[in-house]
Amino acid sequence: VEDALVIFTPSGKRGRVAKGTSVLEAARKLGVDLDSVCGGRGICSKCQITPGYGDFPKHGVKVAEDALSAFNAVEERYDRVRGLKPGRRLGCQACIQGDVVLDVPPESQVHKQVIRKSASERVMEMDAAVRLCLVDVAEPDMHVPTGDFERLAAALEEAFGIKGLQVDIEVLSKLQSVLRKGKWQVTCAIWQDGGAPRLVGLFPGLRETPVYGLAIDLGSTTIAGHLVELGAGAVLASSGLMNPQIRFGEDLMSRVSYAMMNKGGDVEMTAAVRAALGDLTQALAEEAGVSADEIVETVIVCNPVMHHLVLGIDPVELGQAPFALAHSGSVTVPARTLGMPIAPGAMTYLLPLIAGHVGADAAAVALSESPETRDDLSLIVDVGTNAEILLGNKTRVLACSSPTGPAFEGAQISSGQRAAPGAIERIEINPETREPRFRIIGNEHWSDEPDFGTPQITGICGSGIIEAVAEMRMAGILDASGLIGSAEQVGTPRCVATGRTHEYVIYDGRPDGPRITVTQGDIRAIQLAKSALYAGARLLMDEMGVDRVDRVVLAGAFGAHISAKHAMVLGMIPDAPLSQVSSAGNAAGTGARMALCSVAARRAIEAQVRRIHKVETAIEPRFQEHFVAANAMPHASDPFPELSK
Ligand code: FES
Repeated sequence: VEDALVIFTPSGKRGRVAKGTSVLEAARKLGVDLDSVCGGRGICSKCQITPGYGDFPKHGVKVAEDALSAFNAVEERYDRVRGLKPGRRLGCQACIQGDVVLDVPPESQVHKQVIRKSASERVMEMDAAVRLCLVDVAEPDMHVPTGDFERLAAALEEAFGIKGLQVDIEVLSKLQSVLRKGKWQVTCAIWQDGGAPRLVGLFPGLRETPVYGLAIDLGSTTIAGHLVELGAGAVLASSGLMNPQIRFGEDLMSRVSYAMMNKGGDVEMTAAVRAALGDLTQALAEEAGVSADEIVETVIVCNPVMHHLVLGIDPVELGQAPFALAHSGSVTVPARTLGMPIAPGAMTYLLPLIAGHVGADAAAVALSESPETRDDLSLIVDVGTNAEILLGNKTRVLACSSPTGPAFEGAQISSGQRAAPGAIERIEINPETREPRFRIIGNEHWSDEPDFGTPQITGICGSGIIEAVAEMRMAGILDASGLIGSAEQVGTPRCVATGRTHEYVIYDGRPDGPRITVTQGDIRAIQLAKSALYAGARLLMDEMGVDRVDRVVLAGAFGAHISAKHAMVLGMIPDAPLSQVSSAGNAAGTGARMALCSVAARRAIEAQVRRIHKVETAIEPRFQEHFVAANAMPHASDPFPELSK
């Protein structure tokens, strides 16, 4: 048989195939990424390509008008009924008859490149664990008694080469009705992540729309989720809710103690978080207008305590040295066991944990920020109730976590509140008059501007309190040790004595509104939190043998709102050029989304986590030394040369 040269763009893959080969077969043979849901039967239209004709000097070929076979009956019918875009052909029907150049449009690629939404807008490749396959299943025959599932599995093996298909009872219980509803034609959602393929979802007839997945960042305070379309990787809905476990303890260690002190406490907390996952799933599905059984996979990132609790593992071992994890590798479990009402067979992938105190959320940040690919030394800080800290470059990556407590989120602060409309989020204090001006969430005007109006001012949020404390320091209201001066010392009536200490009044709305102040207790809470954060970073720098970092990345929803200057005035983060301090937004959420969209990303982070060197802050004596020295603002001994510039 004569052969012909085939060149695929944009991949540039080329090779010779026998004349008469279909474009889809040629693509498979040459390793070109061309989609197919119907297995080449001219039904799904996922295999569309655009042939080019004429002279292609770049590729050294001339393509004749008859390089592809003419429309056959199947393609003609498709074009008549559904319509093909001008110039397009169905790759499974068009056959190669001469040298040809074929362009694969993005919508025909399984491994599409999608732009990640993050501060650094990088590209990632779709490589989802779930694919859709349309099959015609043989009807039952009384004389050849086989099960519907066996005939479905045989059809999948024949059309798609899928061998050893697994199924669980929840999917099986729907199988017979869906097969009959689809008149023996069904679209199967096949999940495969390393091991055996699984049938996780089933739709009657041809399913033309893509299926969906959930990427969930399960934090100790908030649970945030994204509903992602698994075809193009687009985020269709994002939502969040409070972690209901807060009623068992504000921070992680108090939840571990709750489990230790109360028989069955871990079971209660597991039930609470699973119920919240169920609510979040429903909210996301509603927002995106998607039905629950179209969601076929989920990925969760979380800290070790949340990881154990959501899986139903008692976290007591995480409360005491040596902080042994029940399991540190990635885990895959049926989504329904975690309380998520999605496709009956859907699976949940949990990213690996880095150490007893450094979770899958930090692994997700590592995946999203990939410090191991850079020459310069990055310090990546995910600020939450617990701060996860990564330090590294191409040579080495180190990780630790530090117990900052919830002060950075506005908790344990006298006028503190969560970031919500009415909360003060920005503040400036005039260094001469010591008068404040501020902005609240939901109002773009500053409080001293005429358009500010008379909004309800409710409190101060995490980024607001950091700015307030840093501004107080810069205006001389606080000394380096964190003490608030008296009205006489500072020269403003806004410093008011309360018992033996003083507080600074930012806003006094009495008699109808609140009085918002920063108390000495608030300053202490912020000092403890920032010292813990700084000490963790310094410990990693010691381990790395450096006293400077090249760049600082603030991750976490909260990190996105902190001003770099104020963070450095406080000494929350080590000294670095201000231009090199950036926000990565919700990097843990981005990492979760990358893992959801790509099994290759899962393998990459699993390998990377094994290479990350863990530093345990809780048992390291130098942590305490660093912590004490970091109490001063910015620091008792470390110089902050960039700050004085
Ligand atoms: Fe489905 Fe070509 S592979 S139409």
